[in-house]
Amino acid sequence: MTPLCPVESIEDPGSAGFVIETTDGRKRAIMVVQANGHLRGYVNHCPHRGHPLDFTPGRFLDMTRTFVLCASHGALFSVETGRCLAGPCLGDGLDPVALVVAGGMIMVETT
Ligand code: FES
Repeated sequence: MTPLCPVESIEDPGSAGFVIETTDGRKRAIMVVQANGHLRGYVNHCPHRGHPLDFTPGRFLDMTRTFVLCASHGALFSVETGRCLAGPCLGDGLDPVALVVAGGMIMVETT
């Protein structure tokens, strides 16, 4: 497990970005997003062109702070499921990252 941050450091709605190291030493950019009490983790990799989703580091939500937004071409994703609901990758989805909350900390299982 890799600790990321305290739960209270992610606003609801809000988001944050992290770079974690996998067990084979590679770096992986991930995001933690929260909206309507749903706290989720996803790989920071858009299924459309493979770009990182955040133009401003750590800001993954759209202006309404309801959906995950890809800043490159405007795809919108469900916070709860990661599925693309609008945009050029409609029907595709973000790769989930399993989060664990323990002792007030958000942690990710390192793969
Ligand atoms: S790279 Fe994300 S919508 Fe195009």
